[in-house]
Amino acid sequence: MAFNSKLLSVLEGAKPPTPPIWLMRQAGRYMPEYRAVREKVSFLELCKSPELACEVTLQPVELLGVDAAILFSDILVPIEPMGAGLDFNPAPVIKNPVRDLAGAERLKTLSPLSDLPFLFNSIRLLKARLEVPLIGFCGAPFTLACYLTEGRGSKDFLEIKKLMYSNTHAYRLLMEKLTDSMIRYLQTQIDAGADAVQIFDTWAGVLSPSDYGEFVVPYLRRLTNNLKGAPVIYFAKAGAGHFRHMKGLSVKCIGVDWTTDLELADELLERRYPLQGNLDPAVLLSDPANLIKAADAVIDAGRKLEHGHIFNLGHGILPSTPTENVKALIRHVQWRE
Ligand code: CP3
Repeated sequence: MAFNSKLLSVLEGAKPPTPPIWLMRQAGRYMPEYRAVREKVSFLELCKSPELACEVTLQPVELLGVDAAILFSDILVPIEPMGAGLDFNPAPVIKNPVRDLAGAERLKTLSPLSDLPFLFNSIRLLKARLEVPLIGFCGAPFTLACYLTEGRGSKDFLEIKKLMYSNTHAYRLLMEKLTDSMIRYLQTQIDAGADAVQIFDTWAGVLSPSDYGEFVVPYLRRLTNNLKGAPVIYFAKAGAGHFRHMKGLSVKCIGVDWTTDLELADELLERRYPLQGNLDPAVLLSDPANLIKAADAVIDAGRKLEHGHIFNLGHGILPSTPTENVKALIRHVQWRE
């Protein structure tokens, strides 16, 4: 079979008649084949085994027919060798949270090839087998800093705000180290063969737009300006209020969650980018008729964009999603007239 370059064509400015589709968190617990692998190993062991990570990366490509693969790992994997102390059960726990200047000073800047050799071995294995593009990824510096300061997940991430407002020097040092580390991390993924990369800024939405502009955008600008050789997708969850600060970023595509219409996002971004998104993942829990109706609304909105559209969910797929619904969605998006 020939290489499926639909996703890359949209990132280069094409508007194919039907959008390419992949799903955030497409390899995961909703798939019985993933659960079978996870019965044998812990989540971190899975991330660190190139053979198993390659196997689960391929599952949604081979069994569901998505138009791109996303490397199986987690945004938090690189903070372990930076000194954070990491565990998953299944939610992440950071043993050594960073709460002050001394903590930020102790963090090590990532050396991707020596710190995470398994990841680049996974990329090489995947590139030999894939006939769709491979998406590499990282967490955005701010989202990683949220977990590093809090030590775990949270609804409001107050620890990062405390640091940002009361100890700005420590905040800036932490963000500089994360930015340097993520530049090296993504560039090494690109050099190893990733065809595109996505930056996940899941928690950008906890900030006001002006704090986002002041405390997040300068680092995103430095990160995205320093990557060469592959298109970059930037996804911020609940980022609608932040679009006016994003529109200068040198990325090829912006991800949109389901709380903003694609059309409005296009307008707020001054019609500068192809957009990715934005079906509510909960729709995949509903009946097929409702699913197809909601998917059609996203496809139709995508067709009206100034640039192209990559069909995706507005956030990661939910573990309770029926696989049959995912198959029906992918078939529908790829074959609708
Ligand atoms: O998309 C993919 O298929 C590639 C793999 C991938 C995972 N996590 C695997 C995973 C990717 C791209 C991520 C990104 C990620 N991880 C984000 C950004 C996107 C988002 O969803 O907001 C964030 C915030 C994390 C941090 C994280 N990892 C949390 C909060 C959790 C626990 C919650 C949960 O979903 O269980 C994880 C664990 C995790 N990462 C799992 C998977 C498949 C479940 C672990 C398991 O198998 O037990």
